[in-house]
Amino acid sequence: MSISSKFMGFDIKSPIVIGSCGLTANVENLKKMEAAGAGAVILKSLFEEQITQEMNVNVKVYSANFSGYPEAYNYIQEHTKGQAIEKYIKLIKDAKASLNIPVIASINCITASEWLPFVKTVEESGADGIELNMFILPSDINLSHEDIERLYEDIIHIIKRATSLPISLKISSYFSSLTRFAQKISWMGITNLNIFNRFYQSDINIDTFETVPVDIKSNHHELYNTIRWTAILSEAIRCDLTAGNGVHKPEDVIKLLLAGADTVQVVSVLYDEGVDFIINANNKLKEWMKEKGYSSINQFKGKLSIKDNKNASAFHRVQFMKYYSGIE
Ligand SMILES: Cc1cc2nc3c(=O)[nH]c(=O)nc-3n(C[C@H](O)[C@H](O)[C@H](O)COP(=O)(O)O)c2cc1C
Repeated sequence: MSISSKFMGFDIKSPIVIGSCGLTANVENLKKMEAAGAGAVILKSLFEEQITQEMNVNVKVYSANFSGYPEAYNYIQEHTKGQAIEKYIKLIKDAKASLNIPVIASINCITASEWLPFVKTVEESGADGIELNMFILPSDINLSHEDIERLYEDIIHIIKRATSLPISLKISSYFSSLTRFAQKISWMGITNLNIFNRFYQSDINIDTFETVPVDIKSNHHELYNTIRWTAILSEAIRCDLTAGNGVHKPEDVIKLLLAGADTVQVVSVLYDEGVDFIINANNKLKEWMKEKGYSSINQFKGKLSIKDNKNASAFHRVQFMKYYSGIE
């Protein structure tokens, strides 16, 4: 029996991919993840603002191009000591020297801007691929959905010209037509789509009248949104699909594979349970496959996607009516 899968053009020994986070910024952690059976790792993201600042871009001109996050520049200017790129390149090289599984670099970006030449540096430092976490919250009233989608497309176009490395795009679910958009970008030469990233959440303190950060980790309930979109998108796109956001139990990995994911991303649960989760999830997958008589993931991957029901929105509405109207 084999639990191997495909990720960004690589054959990987387990469908579990460790998503970008603070834990993947440390080579000792990465080694433990590999030893526990992870299929691939995505390094902690380097932020576009860190790259552009170190490339001596005129920050004011740059931020005026996209009115989204000017406060990020101030933060970066105050808090980086100008060695972010150097440190990141060292992380890639050290990880590559220590691991046998694919090592994917990650860039968190909001524009198709001067940071793009940096991908050549990533390629030269030996990374096996690049993931772009595009942090574009559709909050700007001046941007239409076409503007936002064009931004994604521009970035893909340009990065495809800048590197021959396989590219994974990590997106949120905030699109007015997620299926159509995902299909379109999957035709543009990306190797993998990763659903979903998370935006930082804020709460409000009613005594101090301040906004306060909420724990960034996911909860298990978020898995259901991921299952739905995995079942839908896996049938619509023409690249590999990594699904995550809300994976907290070993059986969640099996669920997302059944929904059609090629690989499953885990992050929050590693903060809670450590690398034991990887061991448990791989074991659970093997036990379940044995019990059901499967010898490879391909034999059941996508078995519960929407393939046999092309009209997914109608399907969901019917379920909704049954549940809320009592019509059986
Ligand atoms: C502490 C923490 C740090 C994260 N840092 C990054 C990051 O640097 N880049 C990125 O693309 N995603 C980052 N993420 C998002 C995760 O990669 C992942 O998309 C998200 O947490 C959903 O997966 P999960 O439910 O398994 O946590 C971070 C998540 C957490 C919890």
